Amino acid sequence: MSRAGLLVDSHGRVMRDLRISVTDRCNFRCLYCLPETEAAFNFYRGRWASVPDPTPIARQWTPRSKILSFEEIERFVRAAVELGIDKIRLTGGEPLLRQELETLVGKLSRIDGVQDIALTTNGFLFAKKAEALKQAGLKRISFSLDSLDSANFKKITGRDGLGEVLSGIRLAKELGLHPVKVNAVVIRGVNDHEIESLAEFGRDQGVAMRFIEFMPLDSARAWLKELVVPAREILERLQARFSLKPLTSLNMSETARRWSFPDGDGEIGLIAPVSEPFCGHCNRLRITADGRLRTCLFSVTEHDFRDQMRAGMTDDELKDWLKSMVLHKEAGHRIGQRDFVPPARSMSCIGG
Ligand code: 5AD
Ligand code: SF4
Repeated sequence: MSRAGLLVDSHGRVMRDLRISVTDRCNFRCLYCLPETEAAFNFYRGRWASVPDPTPIARQWTPRSKILSFEEIERFVRAAVELGIDKIRLTGGEPLLRQELETLVGKLSRIDGVQDIALTTNGFLFAKKAEALKQAGLKRISFSLDSLDSANFKKITGRDGLGEVLSGIRLAKELGLHPVKVNAVVIRGVNDHEIESLAEFGRDQGVAMRFIEFMPLDSARAWLKELVVPAREILERLQARFSLKPLTSLNMSETARRWSFPDGDGEIGLIAPVSEPFCGHCNRLRITADGRLRTCLFSVTEHDFRDQMRAGMTDDELKDWLKSMVLHKEAGHRIGQRDFVPPARSMSCIGG
């Protein structure tokens, strides 16, 4: 495919990876995403010098009629794939709350040119859908797991669900989804004491355990820099305990720096969007459940295509529109800079 037929931005980056949020609903209330529980409120209240009113961004679940149908998602994906997208990730909110997600996976995996379909989930509902998803063509999966201690798990996610998530991870491995990744958002004073045990879990279970820096994407805007544990610090802690060896990756757009254990097939990934931004090689686009294109996780503007589609936009018009939107993809985020403006919506509406 010539460059002219691809989604190239003004910084020369070619888009390959599309992340689709299929719902903005979630059955968890993670304190780094939807901090609406008493535990989350108490945690932040103890840290803010004067608690601004941590009023959550006015949030209401999007009504069904405004959510893209599977057919609309499929149509968008076909256009994107014709323009060079080959990797799809389904996210949420919690994507398994979307009815018949396996039907969507089936539709997307049949599109010529889709090389890879992955799912990011909190894992709570995975067991029920696991086989159907695998059969429909799901290849890879990422779970969120921030704690191996059931009380801490509940404090972080608002849900007593550690057992379900651990069984989900086991099942994903048994079904041969590969790789199985497990994401932990590390927050100082919340789960940083569990870094080593989470790494051990990765090694013993043979999964890729990925530590992610806490980003300012929570609905309460309660994020504080002091709560971020920089990846370098995580690595030092892990190196003191395990003899990790760096894994080289040919894929420049990879978000994680990866490490292997001398024993076991597990691996460690460090994702440092805050302390070491990797925007320079970003090849990702995102669409929200209500049909808006986001050219960056931190975009402050979103571009609607749902209404245009519903008003009769042709496939060619959709492709031209996509190309012109991508051209304006942001150079990168500005976390930590004085002019940083957090996006209006939280991670639960954007998808990881
Ligand atoms: N900072 C970093 N990671 C986050 N996630 C959700 N909110 C945040 C945040 N504020 C992660 C979740 C999940 C993925 C979709 O994004 O852990 O694994
Ligand atoms: Fe947690 Fe993901 Fe739900 Fe946000 S969308 S509350 S990160 S499980």
